[in-house]
Amino acid sequence: MSQDDSKTLWHGRFAGGPADELMAYTASLPFDRRLWRDDIACSRAHVTGLAHVGILTDAERDAVLAALATVESEMAGETFVFAAGDEDIHTAVERRVTEICGAPGAKLHTGRSRNDQSVTGLRLWCKREVPLVAARIVALQEVLLNRAREAGVGDDAVYLPGYTHLQRAQPVLLAHHLLAHGWAFGRDVERLLDALERVDVSPLGAGALAGSSLPLDPSFTARELGFARPFDNSLDVVSDRDFVAEILFALSLVALHLSRIGEEWVLWTSEEFGFAVLDDAYATGSSMLPQKKNADIAELARAKAGRIIGDLAGLLATLKGLPLAYNRDLQEDKEPLFDAVDQVSLALSALSGMIASARFLPDRMRAAADSPTMAATDLAEFLVRAGTPFRDAHAIVGALVRRSLAGEGALVDLVRGESLLGDEAAELLAGAVAVRRRTSPGGAGPRPVATQIENFATALLQWKQAIA
Ligand code: ARG
Repeated sequence: MSQDDSKTLWHGRFAGGPADELMAYTASLPFDRRLWRDDIACSRAHVTGLAHVGILTDAERDAVLAALATVESEMAGETFVFAAGDEDIHTAVERRVTEICGAPGAKLHTGRSRNDQSVTGLRLWCKREVPLVAARIVALQEVLLNRAREAGVGDDAVYLPGYTHLQRAQPVLLAHHLLAHGWAFGRDVERLLDALERVDVSPLGAGALAGSSLPLDPSFTARELGFARPFDNSLDVVSDRDFVAEILFALSLVALHLSRIGEEWVLWTSEEFGFAVLDDAYATGSSMLPQKKNADIAELARAKAGRIIGDLAGLLATLKGLPLAYNRDLQEDKEPLFDAVDQVSLALSALSGMIASARFLPDRMRAAADSPTMAATDLAEFLVRAGTPFRDAHAIVGALVRRSLAGEGALVDLVRGESLLGDEAAELLAGAVAVRRRTSPGGAGPRPVATQIENFATALLQWKQAIA
């Protein structure tokens, strides 16, 4: 490389140009160009700060700001022409600013390193993008709440088997089941917002690693950029990627929650369960089997959790053992973060649409939940109310279930014939009875679920306000 446009920002110390292979391997432009807005914001704050402390004249500052505005419109209009020597978005913007405004542009990098610059841009990006992910989570929570309300808590409420070990256990209202996921997503929103607190630190002014001999004012640039505070330790802030790891962990949990919903919908939409039917717009067909209708969104939500956990694990492995302060390894912070944000965002939208448009099959759900053994715990609790210790009650009912399964008769008849149980207890086995008897707070029956729906709606408003 010898043409001028292939010059790097650091060519001064080098006799010749970089090898093509070096550029191909080390350049981050292909993935960090999406930081362009943040890099321009960072440069605006930096030149304003330099003028504020008298390192640049106001005229020089204004020339650079005007050039940055041009770069901004070129980037926004996708007319910006990248040069062969543009290693990353920071290099590209600075090169173009200098092309546009000449000498003042050459002062832009005064007192700044790409080490503080790139991480400042990344923090700004997180502050902008992470709340958008949170907003998509809230949108999915809204879908869950709407569908929970629709499933109801009244006489015609929809209920289905609740499972443990994927074996039918006790009936639960569909609203209860849907909101179980809703609460998990609430914790996800809180975790993302909590991580953003530690993102809200400006690294600008840390330089390459040790600050500057120039009278920089990191508090001023932090304020200009809208950060809550400047860094305390230059070595720490140029090498700290904890905030990326925290966001990736929070996103991994979102992905994991989505994958659990995904698995559930694969089951629910199978012929064996038959609890829900996907809208055609949210299902896929088979290229060979004409009858197929597949839940590919749900399957990919299940699969992609693995990839996003990989993004987190990869970053943690990259950071482990790095000496202070900046190392080029840290450039590897961006791709896993961008990937996780992109994938979680896509999954949230796709699953929201899938769940919002699906049709539940309440008769199938109720039929599965009304199998008489689902009231076994209620029978044991009937005995408990009459003074039988729970362990004995458990054994009595368990024996009845065993005898029924062995062909001695229907459970309901065996219950009627059992002296401690009888006709009153047998009524507990009728359809729709057991679910209505889940009355304790936070439980799966109509009364606690009605309260829960109201509480969830209130919490959802708060989550929404917190991300606004
Ligand atoms: N593209 C680099 C990154 O994202 C910029 C920092 C390069 N710094 C350096 N001293 N080579 O980390």
